[in-house]
Formats: sequence, C-alpha cells, structure tokens
Amino acid sequence: MNAPQKRLRSVVAGIGSYLPERCVDNVELARMVDTSDDWIVQRTGIRTRHIAAEGETTSMLATKAAEQALANAGLTAADIDLIILATATPDYTFPATATLVQAALGMTHGVAFDLQAVCSGFVFAVSTADKFLISGSHKRALVIGAETFSRILDWKDRTTCVLFGDGAGAIILEAQEGEGTLADRGVLTSHLRSDGRHREKLFVDGGPSTTQTVGHLRMAGREVFRHAVGMVTDVMIDAFAATGTSAEDLDWFVPHQANERIIDASAEKLGIAAQKIVKTVSMHGNTSAASIPLALAAACADGRIQKGHLVMIEAMGGGFTWGSALIRW
Ligand code: ACO
Repeated sequence: MNAPQKRLRSVVAGIGSYLPERCVDNVELARMVDTSDDWIVQRTGIRTRHIAAEGETTSMLATKAAEQALANAGLTAADIDLIILATATPDYTFPATATLVQAALGMTHGVAFDLQAVCSGFVFAVSTADKFLISGSHKRALVIGAETFSRILDWKDRTTCVLFGDGAGAIILEAQEGEGTLADRGVLTSHLRSDGRHREKLFVDGGPSTTQTVGHLRMAGREVFRHAVGMVTDVMIDAFAATGTSAEDLDWFVPHQANERIIDASAEKLGIAAQKIVKTVSMHGNTSAASIPLALAAACADGRIQKGHLVMIEAMGGGFTWGSALIRW
C-alpha cells in the first residue's frame, strides 16, 4: 500500500451563529392558521422558530454570524480571502448577499459570492470552499448559511408556514497541511447531488424571469418526505465508502434540521446511535441553509463537538439537491 502523502485540508478554525430575537411558538401560530401544537410537534418535532424583525435582512443575520465566527477563530476580516454564502432568500435579486456581508465586514479584498442549493446550501458551500482551499488558490474561507424564509412563506398556508424559521450560521475554513490520513483535521470528503426533475415537489412560485415577483414557497410535503431519507442516506454511504469509515466511527451526526422524523429515520437506517445526533429542529424549525451551521454552533457552544471529533453533515432540499460532508473537527 502507498504511504499517505501530505496534502492541504480545509480545517475548521471558527464558528458562529445568529438567531433573530423574536421567537414564535406553535401556540402563537395556531392563532394565525388552523393548526395545533400537538399536530406540529407530532409531525415534525418543531416547537419554536425565530422570525426576523421588519427590516432585518439575510445579510444582517449573516454578518452577525460571520463576526462571531471571526471572533471565535481569533481572526479579522483581513485574514479572509473567500466568502461563500448559501441562501435561497437573498436581500436582493443582485448583487450577491455575500458581497453585502463582505462590505459590512469592511473587507475590500478577496472574493465573495452566493450559492443557491436551498436547504442543501451549506453542504454545497462547504464542499465548494474546500475545493478552493485545497487547490491552494485561497487561504481562508468564511462559509455562511443564512436565511429569512419567513419572507417567502405563505402565512395562510398551514401546510408550509409552520415548518420554517430564520437564522444564520458560519464557519471559517482554513487551508492547512495534513498528513493525508483520516486522522487529519478538516473536510475529509464531500458528495453532492441534484436531480431537477423534482422541481415541482418543492419550489417558490415566483422569480425575476418568470413572474417578476419573489413568490411563495410551495411544497408537496409527503412527496419530499418520501424521497428525503433515501437521498440523504445514499450520500452518507458515499462518504463512508470514500473514507473507509462507518457509522460507528462518527462522533456526531449533524443533519439538516427539517423534520425530526426524517432525521431519526436516516440515522436508524445507517445505524447511527441516537445519542450521536445533534438536533435543534425543535427550537429553530427548518432554517434551510442555516440549519446545519446553527446546529454545529449549538453543539460546539455546549461542548459536545470537540477538536478531533468526526462529524457528518448532510442535507436535502429543493431541486432536489442533496449532499454530505465528513469533517474531522
Ligand atoms: N396543522 C394541522 N393540520 C395540518 C397542517 C397543520 N399545520 N398541515 C397539514 N395538515 C393536515 C392536512 O391538511 C391533512 O389533512 P386531511 O387528511 O384532512 O387532508 C393532514 O394534516 C395530513 O397532511 P399531510 O401533508 O399528509 O401530513 P404529513 O403527515 O405528510 O406531514 C409534513 C406533513 C410535516 C409537511 C411532512 O410531510 C414532512 O415533514 N415532509 C417533509 C417536509 C420537509 O422536510 N421539507 C423540507 C425539505 S428541505 C427544503 O429544501 C425546504
């Protein structure tokens, strides 16, 4: 067997998150649409979600999460040369929300752009940043997932408006030389997929080039549910196969937080022990691209995720898009 060769790895150097102040529980929602705390908790596990204040935009949430990640890493914006912001709810049709964050951070060098893969956005952004960093073209990336889904919900549609929330999370990835083994810290592998035939199961019914409106989220919930477990477990199996690891090697499983039943069914299918699952869906609802970094930040803040731990992230979203990344923290 060939000896491992030193190689660049994208290592997590810092993490931050931000949730809007206003927290809305299921009882409050039941005063707006015909629903109940029982129905929402039983079907989804969601109890509360945060909703952005009037005038509070995706870039504002993202900037707060980014500032926290920089402070956590002991870095400043001067140390960053790449910003990738995953969002399906940008401040404007253009320019990219990432450039608004770049400006808010006082950063005039480097490059910033948005990435659109809906709920899979953060996994896609981590994978994309990793490819920039391991190529040697960039040194440190701010990878952000930020959303104000409350702005694209139809607040009269009980089948969707109870499921989502607003928030932002960010990590800093830094190119560092590793030994080329599984013991290296950093992104060890990532696997991305999409299949555009599923567009009508989960989409927004507006846009600049179609209706010239922003539109509202529409979802065939049962159809999405039917595909979700198979898709996310497929890409996790890909990650295990690429690294020669298995569910038992994981320290933490940090899935996209859409629905507790999807999370539990995916973990069970792969034999991931329940105590290894990080869940924030009950408190945040589905915050789309922000859900994984928000969950990662919560598990770092309370000391569950530690340096050297093996962490699997995965998500599935509109498109459909889906993906996984295995990270040695
Ligand atoms: N409160 C009360 N009743 C409701 C509500 C509600 N909020 N919403 C729907 N119902 C009713 C329906 O009208 C239906 O009533 P009927 O039987 O009289 O017609 C009944 O509840 C069952 O509806 P279903 O849609 O079949 O309920 P289901 O058990 O499938 O649960 C849910 C719905 C929670 C949306 C589920 O399908 C799900 O979680 N799907 C996956 C959604 C998801 O994870 N999406 C995120 C993907 S990521 C992204 O990219 C955004």
